[in-house]
Amino acid sequence: MWLFLYFYFFKIQFHLKNYSPIGVFDSGYGGLTVLNELIKKLPENDFLYLGDNARAPYGSRSFEIVYSFTLDAVQELFSRGCKLVILACNTASAKALRNIQQKDLFDYPDHRVLGVIRPSTEIIEGLSKTKHVAVLATEGTVSSNSYLIEIEKFSEKMSVIQHACPMWVPLIENGEIESDGALYFIKKEIDHIFHLDNLVDTIILGCTHYPLIEAQIRKFVPNHVNIVSQGPIVADSLKEYLLRHPQMDTACSKNGQVDYLTTEQSDTFNTNVLKLTGDIITSTKIKL
Ligand code: DGL
Repeated sequence: MWLFLYFYFFKIQFHLKNYSPIGVFDSGYGGLTVLNELIKKLPENDFLYLGDNARAPYGSRSFEIVYSFTLDAVQELFSRGCKLVILACNTASAKALRNIQQKDLFDYPDHRVLGVIRPSTEIIEGLSKTKHVAVLATEGTVSSNSYLIEIEKFSEKMSVIQHACPMWVPLIENGEIESDGALYFIKKEIDHIFHLDNLVDTIILGCTHYPLIEAQIRKFVPNHVNIVSQGPIVADSLKEYLLRHPQMDTACSKNGQVDYLTTEQSDTFNTNVLKLTGDIITSTKIKL
């Protein structure tokens, strides 16, 4: 009996010391579309997901607020052992990433924070034959022009239209994606893109929530048009990053464990995750 208890506590101690998950942050449920791809590509790693559902959506909030909310979340994930945090949120990547990388990481020299916009813009050109692409995103991401600025660095001859879909995230966060109202707003935004440019052959879902309604989006998009989700792109990019940064790779623990934090009631979060992704999970409610 004593021997059993000794080994049990030794195991817990070892586990605590050896727990440095990769933090994955989003304003709400959208980052799950990235997390699930990260789990597929890096199954041995530990992940800690944080959805700030109680304060979502971030999409139409000011630069200062998105930066301050994102910094809260990053610091929370650092305090729980994460050395590496992925902002699995385009709005946070557009409005907070640079400040965090250039200012706040001074206090955490062995920590890193990465975003989702750069990996997507690096490969955009190869995805389109007509070189006409549309980026669908939140108002915050669109007004930051981050996609236009980044795409220009990698591909000069692309025609890019950006379009904000402000109703989509609230519909997803409120569990309304199957409603007639949702289909109305999805069709409205898709029609608008092809009205602006009918040569578009690639649509980038530049908000991590949008892949959660990809089936509904597909209903209104011509078959020859590619719909691109960021999850697989970000997962490939993170895998390469860890190969190029072996020190960070070693610092990230690998017990294949995935945990979920939310600022919403945990029961609500668990139920919505099941509805949106089919995953049965148990989350913990925290306050930021
Ligand atoms: N999922 C987020 C994004 O990629 C943010 C959605 C929101 O909170 O408005 O931009």
